[in-house]
Amino acid sequence: MKAAYLVKYGPATTAFQIREVERPVPKSNQILIKVQAFGLNFADIAARYGKYRGAPPLPALLGYDVVGTIEKCGANVKNLNVGDRVAALTLFGGYAEYAVAEQGVAGKISKSIAPGVAVALATQSCAAHYLANRLTNIQENEKVLIHAAAGGVGIALAQLALHKNCTVFGTCSSQKKVEYLRGIGVQHPINHREKDFSETIRALVGTRGLDVVFNPIGGKSLKQGYRLLGAGGRLVSYGVSSLNSKKTIFGRLKDLWQFGVYHPVQFLSSSKGIIGMNMLKIAEEKPEKISKIMQEVIQLQQEGILRPHVDAEYSIDRLVEAHRFLESRKSMGKIVVKW
Ligand SMILES: NC(=O)c1ccc[n+]([C@@H]2O[C@H](COP(=O)([O-])OP(=O)(O)OC[C@H]3O[C@@H](n4cnc5c(N)ncnc54)[C@H](OP(=O)(O)O)[C@@H]3O)[C@@H](O)[C@H]2O)c1
Repeated sequence: MKAAYLVKYGPATTAFQIREVERPVPKSNQILIKVQAFGLNFADIAARYGKYRGAPPLPALLGYDVVGTIEKCGANVKNLNVGDRVAALTLFGGYAEYAVAEQGVAGKISKSIAPGVAVALATQSCAAHYLANRLTNIQENEKVLIHAAAGGVGIALAQLALHKNCTVFGTCSSQKKVEYLRGIGVQHPINHREKDFSETIRALVGTRGLDVVFNPIGGKSLKQGYRLLGAGGRLVSYGVSSLNSKKTIFGRLKDLWQFGVYHPVQFLSSSKGIIGMNMLKIAEEKPEKISKIMQEVIQLQQEGILRPHVDAEYSIDRLVEAHRFLESRKSMGKIVVKW
């Protein structure tokens, strides 16, 4: 089979090489999928620069989500059969013509679902559902801030929060994204390049503050978001995009310092707190949790609550372009690469 290996850290142009390798062999609880398409995730950019700790060493096969048909089932696989079309979380190994996935993190999907929508249901929608409906347990009418709101995870979070009649504040970096967010119902889209998000939100929510903040950025934005929380507030930190983009050690240390320093007594007295989330860790240690999330996500899509937005589809020979587009911060929603 062909597989797009990451062979060199750095810019997309020199990073990948298509290699001919053996197909992976599914273990007893796994399925082998003939991949129709795989999704890009923002962590792929960090991995490409060698800044993603959980990624395998070079030469590495990236890829967290695929859509395709089951080619082979391991001996203990139940409820899935050869020929079924599935969307699946692959936890690396997705940038290939064939990929293996644990049966629990693969869900049957109809042939009518576009490849981009199918892959968006894996990592990005699962992360959003876990963040919104497990970790923070958002409630009706809460006030919710979503950073990178026009991204893959961001749009899914916005849809889940709006479904619960929340007031949603969403940060993004362009007017086009602001308009997109307004179009899907986000009441307060904020272009952070034009307005200070913290001052804008404070003027709108006053001292009662926000209920929930979803932060995949880190740095100063994390501290600002924490300050915006009112009593009962929950902030989730699930990414460090700002840290990844710092080129010098000094820049990285400064960024880390800007996260702020917190003590549990502070959380107690103000009745608010910060939670971390790393899906990779949960999938490794408690895969049954992700499995449940995946099945629920497919249901949420069928009910029309999750409606992934696919920004661009690329063929495998344009993988470099696909990576550049995600890195450019111009993309909205999912980017998918087809074999
Ligand atoms: N912890 C987990 O398990 C988990 C799981 C899935 C995703 N994530 C994280 O969730 C985030 C979103 O992932 P995604 O795949 O859906 O990507 P995405 O949101 O579609 O794309 C990333 C967005 O982040 C913003 N961004 C990029 N570089 C930045 C920087 N240096 N400083 C501030 N903002 C920056 C940009 O939005 P604007 O330009 O509009 O601001 C960009 O469009 C990523 O940070 C990812 O690592 C974490």
